[in-house]
Amino acid sequence: MKSMFSPAEIRKDFPIFAKTMRGGNRLVYLDSGATSQKPRSVLDAERNFYELHNAAVHRGAHLLAEEASSEYEGARAVLAGFLNAEVDEVIFTKSATESLNAIAYSFGNAPANSKFSIKPGDRIVVSELEHHANLIPWQQLAKRTGAELVWFPIDGEGRIDLSKIDELITERTKVVALTHQSNVLGTIVPIEKIVEATHAVGALFVLDACQSAPHFKIDVKKLGVDFLAFSGHKALGPTGIGILWGRLDLLNHMEPFLTGGSMIESVTMTDATWAKAPKRFEAGVPNMAQAVGLAAAIKYLDALGMDNVAKHEKDLTGYALNQFANLDGVNVIGPKNNIDRGSVISFEITGIHPHDVGQVLDQYGIAVRTGHHCAWPLMRKLGLVGTTRASFYVYNDESDVDSLISAIDEAKKYFKV
Ligand code: ALA
Repeated sequence: MKSMFSPAEIRKDFPIFAKTMRGGNRLVYLDSGATSQKPRSVLDAERNFYELHNAAVHRGAHLLAEEASSEYEGARAVLAGFLNAEVDEVIFTKSATESLNAIAYSFGNAPANSKFSIKPGDRIVVSELEHHANLIPWQQLAKRTGAELVWFPIDGEGRIDLSKIDELITERTKVVALTHQSNVLGTIVPIEKIVEATHAVGALFVLDACQSAPHFKIDVKKLGVDFLAFSGHKALGPTGIGILWGRLDLLNHMEPFLTGGSMIESVTMTDATWAKAPKRFEAGVPNMAQAVGLAAAIKYLDALGMDNVAKHEKDLTGYALNQFANLDGVNVIGPKNNIDRGSVISFEITGIHPHDVGQVLDQYGIAVRTGHHCAWPLMRKLGLVGTTRASFYVYNDESDVDSLISAIDEAKKYFKV
């Protein structure tokens, strides 16, 4: 496996790794949990679209409009293949945040007799692990509708505590919205049992797959969820493009979040009716070049093989956790072994603020994220102001981990802790 999967070779496909960083150091990019770097094939696909095919999709009778539409719809088919979804179930949004807001909006604006209508006393279930993007839309929906927001707590290892599942998911529950993998702790949420409980009470399940879809195989049919969201830019793709996947029978009964051109079936001066999915959710001229760029990213990941990607990250995370275990005064927050966790490692160094750690690491060309990671309630629960977070992807290897560990030692020396 290792000889087939070569991060050193992979890095050659990413122009940014040729850059010299502070102090003349090479780039050790350990911030893919925030955004991934882009291979040349993605940059080329976007440029190629603008140079050769640029026109507004689904409008116009000319050759370029036809080519642009075919490129854009081709990208949708690539994404459908990646998720094992039907093509019409894949909606391009501008981000995962927009995708999650679009679902929450539909719940808040549905006719009273619809599966989506939320009324006072209904329940929305999230967890303490959520990123703000999968908390605030539901929190605000609860406030607007009078529904009750409840959440799965976490245990001491940062895993979802399922012991209260029957108290949380009841006949009153309308929607359960959970992260697939914590962006802070890396814990993978065992959703199977929760999806089953959700469907048993007739509720709908929304999966925030931002930290999972780029890293391991996602099959929406096997997962059995109702909706899923992820962002392109964390999966080697461009910014400005997100995915909203939903079951077609649900999508075609949902209220669209954005209205305007292209998403209609018919319009009069006083009323309008909606097209079927995916158009129903793609008002305006979409982010075409970005969708095409994302398809190139997905092809790149497919060529590596998602099972190989997952295996590589698991091995590398295991290697890193072993190194961390030997460091005095450094505490990994969350699971300390690589079982049921992804390639995100949050840590604290006793006596040094996470931002100071980040600055020292930067002097060695090492890019990490510091702070509350858009998961403020989780930080409060953990009793932390923030963490330093290293996150790995296909282009990282053991040499990156070794650089990180030795720079952590330097930070400890510098701050005399
Ligand atoms: N959601 C991204 C992160 O966790 C930005 O860093």
